[in-house]
Amino acid sequence: MSADDHRAALRRAETAVTGLRAVRGDRWYPRFHIAAAGGWINDPNGLCYFGGRYHVFFQHHPFGSAWGPMHWGHVSSADLVTWRREPIALAPSLEADRDGVFSGSAVVDDDGNLVVFYTGHRWRNGVDETDGNLQVQCMAVSRNGVDFDKRGVVVTGPAELPHFRDPKVWRTGDRYFMVFGACSATRRGEVWLYHSADLAHWEFDRVLYQDPDPGVYMLECPDLFALGEHWVLTYCPMGAEPDGYLFRNGHNAGYVVGDWAPGSDFRPLTGYQVGDWGAEYYAPQSFSAPDGRQLSFAWMGQFDYRIVTADDGWCGQLTIPRELSLGPDLRLRSRPAAELTALRRNSVDHGAFELGRNEDRVLLSRGGECCEIELTVDLRAGTAERIGLAVNHTPGGHETLVAYDDLARRVLLDRRSTGFGERGYRSAPLNTDELRLRVFVDRGSVEVFIGDGAATLSSITQPADGPRSVQLYCESGTAAVTGLVVHRLRSGWEQD
Ligand code: FRU
Repeated sequence: MSADDHRAALRRAETAVTGLRAVRGDRWYPRFHIAAAGGWINDPNGLCYFGGRYHVFFQHHPFGSAWGPMHWGHVSSADLVTWRREPIALAPSLEADRDGVFSGSAVVDDDGNLVVFYTGHRWRNGVDETDGNLQVQCMAVSRNGVDFDKRGVVVTGPAELPHFRDPKVWRTGDRYFMVFGACSATRRGEVWLYHSADLAHWEFDRVLYQDPDPGVYMLECPDLFALGEHWVLTYCPMGAEPDGYLFRNGHNAGYVVGDWAPGSDFRPLTGYQVGDWGAEYYAPQSFSAPDGRQLSFAWMGQFDYRIVTADDGWCGQLTIPRELSLGPDLRLRSRPAAELTALRRNSVDHGAFELGRNEDRVLLSRGGECCEIELTVDLRAGTAERIGLAVNHTPGGHETLVAYDDLARRVLLDRRSTGFGERGYRSAPLNTDELRLRVFVDRGSVEVFIGDGAATLSSITQPADGPRSVQLYCESGTAAVTGLVVHRLRSGWEQD
């Protein structure tokens, strides 16, 4: 297979996306979240800052709005806010990636090339996953960040392992390191570590981590990065059973914090922590911004049931970029990237006030499909059993609730009457006397940042038809609002 085959495959993919774009429905299509112009997306891949721009690649099926043979889609931005669509970067064209160019990551080498690593995927039986996968780690190189030369396979594992994928590469000192997820010979979920001096030749280093849960058989999309004095290992355990509020999604993402240095084992200091409490948050990947911040994107979607946006010719979107830090309690904090304030238009500051018993207050009577709400409430000074926001509120009475529930002491995101799509609710614990929320509402998702970012809730939404308003409400008591600012947000797309 030659570079020409790859170029031809990319052309076919572009043509298909153009066709889907032409018929795309936009009632739920994101205005400030990354999604493909048409077709399916899942995991963020190859996150980097290169050539003066942020680059976000993603798992992409350009031929339809369901998962299918994976390509790498691509967008870029100078400021993390305004996104330009770039040509599809990678398509299946080698024997090793015959059935998909799966997830991976990017580094910039000493010569200033953008080097990406991805999993070359084949179905063992040539058709589906029934007999497992044949997966290898592959490399591709770009001078300009847009056109890639495939360099083929760089890591081959024991051929009998059914899952062996999602390389995340970084540099520490004068060596490069790669982690990826594996299903061991005894069906345990593991993270494997390799190292390399030149990016082309890789040596097995060690099994860095094994999930303590024997029911977990694969750790998808691992990422290992330093934050302050410690290292954070994020991963997506497959096979964990629902347990109270935990592992409720078909696909869950979390992390452990520990210590690591080149040549050493990873020593966990915590158990598994939830990455995000929402219904759709998966495969987060992080990277270092030029100013040293560790930024992360994740996929808001899932594989377990059909998402109704597929009717509109697209499916899947990424979270907003989040800045990661580590608290003294060894919990990750994730906050919206500071740049996102540039999206704000027409901000209205409502100041401090008391919300009366069972009162509703309209904050935005229309245009609520694209907004950010900053709300703080002194919980000691009020008696409300629930206080929060009804977003996506339509004339037919449909709405999505984002509220603090004082009985459960949790912040919930409830899609029961949103309109279309999956219902159910998700919630995150709140252990303080101050409720502090930043809520991002887009046409097809709601993201909630609680307090200092120790908990977040991200879910996709498919609101009912009609103009969407935002209301503040409280139930069975009063609420002492200490701050409330409502921002309309502009689109982040350079071109649609
Ligand atoms: C996670 C994942 C990865 C894989 C990719 C395939 O969402 O299953 O493990 O590389 O998606 O699209």
